[in-house]
Amino acid sequence: MMTTRRGALALVATLVLATGSAGAAFAAAHDGAGAPPPPPAKPAPAGYVPTVLVTGANRGIGLELARQYAARGWKVIGTARKPAEAKELNALAAASEGRVTVEPLDVMDLAAIDALAKKYAGQPVDILFNNAGVTGGGQNQQFGRNMQWELFDAVHRTNVVGPLKMAEAFLPHLEAGYQKKISNVSSSQGSIGSTKNGMLYIYRSSKASLNMVMKNLANQLRGKGIAIALIDPGPVDTDMMAGLPKKMLRPVPTAGADLIRVTDQLSMANSGTFWTFDGTELPW
Ligand SMILES: NC(=O)c1ccc[n+]([C@@H]2O[C@H](COP(=O)([O-])OP(=O)(O)OC[C@H]3O[C@@H](n4cnc5c(N)ncnc54)[C@H](OP(=O)(O)O)[C@@H]3O)[C@@H](O)[C@H]2O)c1
Repeated sequence: MMTTRRGALALVATLVLATGSAGAAFAAAHDGAGAPPPPPAKPAPAGYVPTVLVTGANRGIGLELARQYAARGWKVIGTARKPAEAKELNALAAASEGRVTVEPLDVMDLAAIDALAKKYAGQPVDILFNNAGVTGGGQNQQFGRNMQWELFDAVHRTNVVGPLKMAEAFLPHLEAGYQKKISNVSSSQGSIGSTKNGMLYIYRSSKASLNMVMKNLANQLRGKGIAIALIDPGPVDTDMMAGLPKKMLRPVPTAGADLIRVTDQLSMANSGTFWTFDGTELPW
């Protein structure tokens, strides 16, 4: 009881400090707000080949991101839960003269994320593209009808915890890179301000939560010159949207190009923004 009460008091004190008059000093020490501006970004040396790390690169939007960055001449680290089954990603790697590598990774496995970061210690990563994600299935998240409560854990671990852990594990690699960007594939379904009906409780709350943790991180990493984007790709013709009429869906290559274009436009001046694919800001 005492511990709980002491914990609650500490939380209240923290909130008061973070929002009150002593907030600036507290924030500078703890969360990056009020931190000095980052040193001016250094230009990459001539001939430097940037690296992008894409999670869930074996199919859908992630595979397209890997393809388009590879076509730009970048180095691509593409992760897949089952690399042996990642035929198209493996074919891309085989044709890339060593620029595309495939790594096994389940983003729910935090130790595996750390192990992957360790494997690439010393290797700069210019852009971390947190793409891997799941919906949990619309039919499994209907309030009062069929709510698969345990799905909250798996979907939030994949869509929120995984991306944040990727950012933590690969922070040294991002600091060593020149672009210093984390791009997150979010969703308009995570926009609380746009929500007009009751569905997809688990998926929607996971993307709203992804937005919050990444907005937090954008504040904290400002002093390091690392910029963070949250981008909704729109409704895209991938397995995730199987069953929906094709005419409602955007082609995967278009969505991939849009995500890359918005990421190109990401800077310290607009870090921590939630955009849709055409660069329009979305309400939180
Ligand atoms: N398609 C859309 O209309 C749409 C709209 C808004 C946002 N998004 C977002 O876009 C991102 C990509 O979705 P998509 O449409 O390309 O879906 P998709 O075709 O279903 O692909 C999902 C990808 O995520 C991977 N993945 C799932 N759970 C994972 C885990 N625990 N660890 C590592 N990888 C995991 C999948 O790997 P496996 O092959 O092993 O399952 C697959 O590579 C997601 O974050 C999604 O929420 C999509």
